[in-house]
Amino acid sequence: MARVAGKVAFITGVARGQGRAHAVRLAAEGADIIGVDSLEPDASAPYPMATPEQLDDTVAAVERTGRRILATKADVRDRDALLDAVKSGIDRFGRLDILIANAGIVTTGRPTWEVPQQDWDAVIATNLTGVVNSVAAAVPAMLQAGNGGSIILTSSGAGMRHVGNLAPYNASKAGVIAVGKTLANELAPHAIRVNVLAPGTVGTEMVTKNDELFRLFRPDLESPTLEDAIPVFSAMMPMGRPWLDAEDMADAVLFLASDDAKYITGQVLAVDQGVTNRP
Ligand SMILES: NC(=O)c1ccc[n+]([C@@H]2O[C@H](COP(=O)([O-])OP(=O)(O)OC[C@H]3O[C@@H](n4cnc5c(N)ncnc54)[C@H](O)[C@@H]3O)[C@@H](O)[C@H]2O)c1
Repeated sequence: MARVAGKVAFITGVARGQGRAHAVRLAAEGADIIGVDSLEPDASAPYPMATPEQLDDTVAAVERTGRRILATKADVRDRDALLDAVKSGIDRFGRLDILIANAGIVTTGRPTWEVPQQDWDAVIATNLTGVVNSVAAAVPAMLQAGNGGSIILTSSGAGMRHVGNLAPYNASKAGVIAVGKTLANELAPHAIRVNVLAPGTVGTEMVTKNDELFRLFRPDLESPTLEDAIPVFSAMMPMGRPWLDAEDMADAVLFLASDDAKYITGQVLAVDQGVTNRP
């Protein structure tokens, strides 16, 4: 039986990676999708952002499931753009039940005192303020509909275990946990559940096309490649895989979005091979 049949989900960062996996999985389980992505290069991120072609591929993949998607270009730093996207989606699909605030970036790793203010501002604006903007765009419509719902905010293991040289990312993702837990208290009386997904390393372009990340994990090499970084990724993981797939995260998101999790709220679900639980 479809686990989110007839629901509508708003997903940020939908053009590729985890956002795309969430959209395709929820659609395969019966949901229509409202999706946004910035589709612009980000000067603070040392790897490419998604392209319009990647967003087209997400649209095609959702439509192959037989469900509908309204996908538009919008930046999570722009609250008005998100409000417009949500309004257009509700006009098209008639309701809103699920929010997945997934868009995020990571910048070049540096000791905290050397982080350029531009990088700090960019990560906080996208990963933390962007999540709050997504909530501000979605929650009023969910409250007005009165159907309850499920909100899933994407944090990271980095929001709980603060690896060195990633202060902006760690702070933004710890902030997402604080926002999620606050919101869970605020929205429980309205039957809107709020949970936080804390992925471990996931094999998306944030990781696989990020030379700066390879340098962070292989400081012993001048120009490390993905292949050089893989043994370090694997060694960090109690279950030994270098990374998980976006679809592994979508499994958890579907669980949290569905009635299987109907009394789960205010929780952080780490899907990370046990890495944040290490002694
Ligand atoms: N990949 C990992 O190892 C990992 C681990 C833990 C948490 N995360 C988090 O998971 C989420 C998804 O990342 P991913 O792994 O799919 O990486 P990704 O880079 O493939 O996907 C991120 C998507 O967000 C979009 N985006 C970036 N800035 C945006 C903005 N300002 N407005 C709208 N869209 C924007 C990008 O264009 C891209 O499509 C992020 O929040 C990330 O921080 C990733």
